[in-house]
Amino acid sequence: KTVAVIYGGRSAERDVSLESGTRVAQALANKGYQVVKVDLYGEGAQQDPVKQLMEANFDMAFIALHGGEGEDGRVQALLDMLEKPYTGSLPLASGFAMDKALTKRYWQGIGIPTPNYLCFSEAPNVAQINDEMNYPLIIKPSREGSTIGISKVNDPSELEQALLDAKRYDSDILVEEFVSGPEFTVAIIDDVAYAPIGLKPAQGHALYDYEAKYLADDTEYLLPCGLSEDLGLEIQALALDAYRSLNCRGWGRVDIMQTAEGQFTVLEVNTSPGMTSHSLVPMAAAYAGIGYDDLVDAILVKAWQ
Ligand code: DAL
Ligand code: MG
Repeated sequence: KTVAVIYGGRSAERDVSLESGTRVAQALANKGYQVVKVDLYGEGAQQDPVKQLMEANFDMAFIALHGGEGEDGRVQALLDMLEKPYTGSLPLASGFAMDKALTKRYWQGIGIPTPNYLCFSEAPNVAQINDEMNYPLIIKPSREGSTIGISKVNDPSELEQALLDAKRYDSDILVEEFVSGPEFTVAIIDDVAYAPIGLKPAQGHALYDYEAKYLADDTEYLLPCGLSEDLGLEIQALALDAYRSLNCRGWGRVDIMQTAEGQFTVLEVNTSPGMTSHSLVPMAAAYAGIGYDDLVDAILVKAWQ
């Protein structure tokens, strides 16, 4: 069987995807699969991903794209049309999870805790933000990943710039009340929640941001995360609820904050999590005794089940 590793893409997370895809392809080769690498929009490739996927010769796909059409259901829908099994969530769940504002509105309705927020598709209403929200705030593009375009805003004087920064990446801007943390993430593989990882960016980072995620070597990953056994089970159950509420499939990663009062509150579900050397799903799997190659194989197997 030939596996296409689909990676690259043209979202702001292209670089992250190039690393994820390169590693995933190596792992699949180590496992004995025939691998073709499909770098969407890569150099020399035609700028038409539909043609690129139609012309590639493969039996099933490992999606190692992050953000944009690779994570929001469009590539998934195309693979459905081509009748090629692929890893991860189906189109509808992918699109839903990619849209943080939509997800939060839905979670509020079904009782999954998530930080207070406002979302603006048109010009943000600054008066409403200042009226209804408690600073500090987190301003983010609603449909983006890897903390790209995100700022922490400590007071109203910083708001305008943060809104402009987020607007560069998405027409929908999410204004969320800042939660002090700590931050945790829970990997889910085949409907099983793995041990939560605690995230502690080094001093100088207000957030677990892009640099803390991929570039810094001084971000601390707490595994075990330091929660009591009961709280560890609680956060895993919450992560599974959030994941299942969106009908996710195969694998994913749920990002969760703890409030100053000790409550857990869910930020988002990632349906195509990073698989880089700094990434968290491989870390959680390794802690459970599952090496990188076996992890990739386990994710792939779910593609046609
Ligand atoms: N969006 C990045 C790749 C992640 O969730 O890991
Ligand atoms: Mg994300």
